[in-house]
Amino acid sequence: MNIDNRGSRRGGRHGVEEDASAIPSAAYNTIERVPTGIPGVDDLIEGGLPRGRIVLLSGPAGAGKTTFGFQFLHHGITTAEENGVFVSLEEEIADLYQEMRRYGWNLMEFVGEKKLSLIKSPIPVVVNTPLTIDSLMDRIHTAVVQVNAKRLVFDSLAALGLCYSDPVNLRRDVLRLCDLLRELGCTTLLTTEVPENDLHGAGFGIEQLVTQGMILLHVSQTYRAIEVRKMRGTRHDTNVHRLRMSDRGLLVSPGEHPF
Ligand SMILES: Nc1ncnc2c1ncn2[C@@H]1O[C@H](COP(=O)(O)OP(=O)(O)OP(=O)(O)O)[C@@H](O)[C@H]1O
Ligand SMILES: [Mg+2]
Repeated sequence: MNIDNRGSRRGGRHGVEEDASAIPSAAYNTIERVPTGIPGVDDLIEGGLPRGRIVLLSGPAGAGKTTFGFQFLHHGITTAEENGVFVSLEEEIADLYQEMRRYGWNLMEFVGEKKLSLIKSPIPVVVNTPLTIDSLMDRIHTAVVQVNAKRLVFDSLAALGLCYSDPVNLRRDVLRLCDLLRELGCTTLLTTEVPENDLHGAGFGIEQLVTQGMILLHVSQTYRAIEVRKMRGTRHDTNVHRLRMSDRGLLVSPGEHPF
């Protein structure tokens, strides 16, 4: 698909009203679930993330956001025949390979089998030009098509925000990015870093509006925890649960007191 084509698609959601009659009637009936593969998490959200939607995964530094993202992708590839794309604005791919290998996840093998595509984007250096986000969006689009991805992780919005001095431009580009992610149809985790004392768990303010779900991770000297702040169309648990980091990744014991 060329850029002109995609450019016109991107303009649709925020520029033109949508025609409800264009939505297939089957889509009204169910919200399909995509299991995260993280033990205990799916029980909190009726079996998994809503298929094709964008969920914000926020938390402070070291809370487990990147691990959560790869565990979700690993589960898709190994148990659901769902390929994945990981977009890293923070860490180098070589570092990610090493870190995820510690959990027993061989990302290099998945990349070789064309089941996973990793995009490492430098934090765009040219500030406030539309081209910066456009080139990243092009790479995401290409990667999703190449591996026929059904799951996507964007890590992180906080890193993207670093290169904007104008909040209006940042919000505009976050909206455009989310439009693209929605149109690509992948079930998407969008990570963002927030301070532990940010009770709202959203950095720029716009993320809460454009994402359909929000999972918060917590970490302190003495505990790790997880809570589902919102999940549209889902009767979700609202408690804070203990989160553990094991040699096989993250796991949650629903009902266990987090502190
Ligand atoms: N094998 C392991 N066993 C237990 N804990 C681990 C293991 N590997 C990493 N950790 C913990 O996980 C943390 C990093 O997790 P992760 O990179 O997923 O967090 P993050 O939220 O993405 O962090 P950042 O904000 O730096 O991007 C480390 O700081 C460490 O505390
Ligand atoms: Mg991280």
